[in-house]
Amino acid sequence: MPHFQALVVRRSGDATTLAIEEWQDDQLVAGEVAIRVEYSSINYKDGLAARADGNVARVYPLILGIDMAGTVSDSQDERFRPGDHVIAHGYELGVSHHGGLAAQARVPASWVVPLPSHLTAREAMAIGTAGFTAALSVDRLELMGLRPGRGPVLVTGASGGVGSMAVALLAAKGYEVTASTGSQDAHEYLRQIGASDVVNRSETVAESAKALERGRWAAAVDAVGGPSLAYILRTMAYGGSVAVSGNAGGADVRTTVFPFILRGVNVLGIDSANMPVQERSVVWQRLAAELKPACLELMIHEIALSEAPRALEAVLEGRVRGRTVVKVAGSPSSS
Ligand SMILES: NC(=O)c1ccc[n+]([C@@H]2O[C@H](COP(=O)([O-])OP(=O)(O)OC[C@H]3O[C@@H](n4cnc5c(N)ncnc54)[C@H](OP(=O)(O)O)[C@@H]3O)[C@@H](O)[C@H]2O)c1
Repeated sequence: MPHFQALVVRRSGDATTLAIEEWQDDQLVAGEVAIRVEYSSINYKDGLAARADGNVARVYPLILGIDMAGTVSDSQDERFRPGDHVIAHGYELGVSHHGGLAAQARVPASWVVPLPSHLTAREAMAIGTAGFTAALSVDRLELMGLRPGRGPVLVTGASGGVGSMAVALLAAKGYEVTASTGSQDAHEYLRQIGASDVVNRSETVAESAKALERGRWAAAVDAVGGPSLAYILRTMAYGGSVAVSGNAGGADVRTTVFPFILRGVNVLGIDSANMPVQERSVVWQRLAAELKPACLELMIHEIALSEAPRALEAVLEGRVRGRTVVKVAGSPSSS
């Protein structure tokens, strides 16, 4: 595919511009594995990468897209052959290395994971970076001893990508899930994907002068940060853990030491971007098997590459429900 369509961010002074451009193979940077991209997805980080003040993109021009699923078209690494179905996400993709919102990509072999046999490329990107992060959060909480029946698990930013996937994964495993959302029209959706209770975001971002309040949660999945994380820490039940992956609601957290020294609360840092590729494969195998959400289709909104710029605005404005999957190959805007 000598020419292909790509969603490219360029910078001029203090501003960025976003456009679908026609690129050629030789404009891609080095990497042992060439991938014909079939699907990518829209993540919060992609929205930030499109903005001049987002502090994500480190080179310009840059093809956006922190994740991709597709077929190997060429490989200089013996682990991959043309025709192999693969996933790549994280590392420098869509940050300082051209990403997945293009019909063709070239990436280091050490970033590539085989697509598990029970997942299609579309399903893999419906899960995407957000679903992988949710799965990692559940995995780490269970390593800390979380089991169904121990009490409600709070998921914040529940209508978003990480949040929706966390609600679905936890509910499917038998956990009692309380979903916190700022989207009034998402309550029914959250119950459909498995939440047993839905609370308004206003409750879970409320400031309080108290260092501790009634311990309510056995655990929490938080991709929101800021006041949301402060709330979780002061309302966590004794010995509970919170898996922290994001800052959609803010980066600064005002807390005291009391949740830690009086309740033994644990904060588990979740990073999907730089996790070693062998460990990623294990999580993807689980996502293709016992963690694969039965309600995945309920969470998917599929768009063409040409619609991605608008979707990037929506994700930063908190207007996204579930997962936005981008059909790159065969999309009306692609060659
Ligand atoms: N650590 C990692 O490896 C990793 C991986 C993936 C994502 N992340 C991070 O996780 C976060 C979420 O990513 P995502 O892709 O799931 O984004 P997303 O789809 O936009 O979801 C974020 C959700 O947070 C809630 N929210 C938005 N603005 C808020 C605000 N000002 N205050 C409180 N809640 C707010 C909204 O949910 P409601 O309307 O339901 O409240 C929104 O849907 C981002 O910070 C992202 O960078 C980190």
